[in-house]
Amino acid sequence: MTYRGKRRRGPAALLAVATVAATLLGAAAPRPAGHRPPVHVDNPFAGASFYVNPDYARLVEGSAARTADPALRARMRAVKRHPTAVWLDRIAAVRGGSANGGRKGLAHHLDLALARKKPGRPVVATFVVYDLPGRDCAAQASSGELPLTEEGLERYRTEYIDAIAEVLARPKYREIRIATVIEPDGLPNLVTNLNDPECAAAESSGIQVAAVRYALDRLHAVPNVYTYLDFAHSGWLGWDSNLAPAVRLYTDVVRGTAAGLASVDGLVTNVSNYTPLAEPFLTDPDRVVGEGPVRSSAFYGWNPHFDEADFTRSVHRELVAQGWPASTGMVVDTSRNGWGGPARPAAESTSASLDTYVNESKADRRVRRALWCNVAGAGLGEPPRAAPDGYPDSHLDAFLWVKPPGESDGAGEDIPNGEGKRPDPMCDPVATPGALPGAPLAGHWFHEQFRMLVAHAHPPVS
Ligand code: GLC
Repeated sequence: MTYRGKRRRGPAALLAVATVAATLLGAAAPRPAGHRPPVHVDNPFAGASFYVNPDYARLVEGSAARTADPALRARMRAVKRHPTAVWLDRIAAVRGGSANGGRKGLAHHLDLALARKKPGRPVVATFVVYDLPGRDCAAQASSGELPLTEEGLERYRTEYIDAIAEVLARPKYREIRIATVIEPDGLPNLVTNLNDPECAAAESSGIQVAAVRYALDRLHAVPNVYTYLDFAHSGWLGWDSNLAPAVRLYTDVVRGTAAGLASVDGLVTNVSNYTPLAEPFLTDPDRVVGEGPVRSSAFYGWNPHFDEADFTRSVHRELVAQGWPASTGMVVDTSRNGWGGPARPAAESTSASLDTYVNESKADRRVRRALWCNVAGAGLGEPPRAAPDGYPDSHLDAFLWVKPPGESDGAGEDIPNGEGKRPDPMCDPVATPGALPGAPLAGHWFHEQFRMLVAHAHPPVS
């Protein structure tokens, strides 16, 4: 692993300096057992074991138990070993229990993480902070419980973020590295979707920026908490005309927090999306085939970033150019971007017609890159791991499975619910060919999708 320099943090950095100084002077006082100061490391995933959510394992077992094919059943069961993020997707999810469908609450997960921690080895657990007032402004599938009002913002602060921060700051959890993924699609919607009236109001009211800043302030204040802001994916913010402006918005938002840029440990891309990590046969966006450069094809629409490896590299470069520390880490959600299975191309196309060449060469089998809801043909991607080799300039802290594979992206039909979720045409296979039929509400278990994801895993599940 490459050493990327230690991030400077107020109290933790001072403590580290004080400890080193005391050791050098031979004056280190014996510390009371169990009272070691928490150290904020550069990459919380490095050297750590990952917390595995038993609620997720139970859902997977439910699918395995109803699968007749023994080989597929065994591969499903192997998925239970993989860590997935825990989504705190409503106020009730913080406490958990019967108010949240029987799922475990935050403290319960942290108790389990502590109980399974091996002596001398750090443990990392990942939680998604996802309850923004006016959530999912550009779509319907995952709209949330809090309205885009000052009252919604106040409830976000006091009933949601404060409740999370109170649990995370409990002294007994300070040995756990707690990674947080902050508000998927939140800031990205404020970069590109201002033509949508709900997103325009989210931006002009200042409510969502205030909410993100508050979350960062409260979470960063806990030294063993790590903050990763969601940064969409290459098929959304990858255009030259989006990337630098997006980084400008993030820089402005984060500079407005109490600790400035130090309050963010990194960015996470591809959350709940299907964009591949690499396009092995499409490596040069400017290469001319037939009618023009590959990036000018219908599928890429002039976007030069075809995959998350390229995208994270460019995003990191732009962050540094706009004053962020080089130690800022990138994370990619690889839960559903594998694209294995029979449709995966085995070789580069030999067609001399641009769109045919692209369609026959790309690993991403979507008919349109904009598809995001329960996409047919997708498969599990790279298993979660720290500091993955092979992408040195992308500054990757980890591959994670942020979206738990098998949980729906949303429903196409109206399913009455108390979660604020609405039918979304992007999830309706008639309106949007390429979305799986019969999908339940966002976040609910979708057996047929899980079956497909396991069958099309790349690399295969083992
Ligand atoms: C969706 C849902 C949310 C769920 C998450 C993970 O975004 O809206 O409730 O927790 O996906 O599956």
